[in-house]
Amino acid sequence: MSGAALRIAPSMLAANFGKLAAEARALGEAGADWLHVDVMDGHFVPNLSIGPAVVAALREATTLPLDVHLMIEAPERWVPEFARAGADRIGVHVEALDEGEALRRCLAQIRGLGARACAVLNPATPAEAVESALGELDQVLVMSVNPGFGGQGFMPEVLPKLRRLRQWIDARAPGVALEVDGGIGPATIAEAARAGADVFVAGTAILGSGDYGAAIAQLRQAAQAARAGTQAAARGAC
Ligand code: DX5
Ligand code: ZN
Repeated sequence: MSGAALRIAPSMLAANFGKLAAEARALGEAGADWLHVDVMDGHFVPNLSIGPAVVAALREATTLPLDVHLMIEAPERWVPEFARAGADRIGVHVEALDEGEALRRCLAQIRGLGARACAVLNPATPAEAVESALGELDQVLVMSVNPGFGGQGFMPEVLPKLRRLRQWIDARAPGVALEVDGGIGPATIAEAARAGADVFVAGTAILGSGDYGAAIAQLRQAAQAARAGTQAAARGAC
């Protein structure tokens, strides 16, 4: 059970791209902890989104940590650009790196550039794909939709993977953040929190709402209540 602060990370993919800087500032005022930035190359996922120039513009607009999720092939080619643009956290998909050694090299590359290193798992990729790298990363991101688009439904089949990663992190790598991304909203955040996630990405649920502050507060409250319930149940079992 994580004791780390819960973090809510709105996904800029659901923002109004015509006024990104204003959106970033509004999310900061609304209580966002990090901003999640989805980068897509049209190859690794069937969609295109943004590149390093937009990350640099967001860096100018906000002091919030920028959590950059690279859904791209050969991420090691682009990591330096995103680090230079001001990414604080850089996530790379294990499926985009052809073997375990390539993942570890890329994580070390990210850390070497002064950013936090995150390994990302697609819904079908097992937790074991990051097991041996747990001591060499700062964050694991479990996708709860197939990446490429916002507004999809949460896949509950990833919950056992979150639980497994939570156990491994608590036992072997405390301090590693466990993030969940895709279909997170008021109806799904509690089960993700109970499974051990401590960072919650939400696009549609926040930016599709009329009141970012209320949406973030509602998500945070639901996650906190779910975690408190799990902790009470664990104490009861002792
Ligand atoms: C999907 C992205 C997500 C997406 C989340 O490929 O990685 O970050 O923006 O959007 P919602 O919260 O709408 O599922
Ligand atoms: Zn994402």
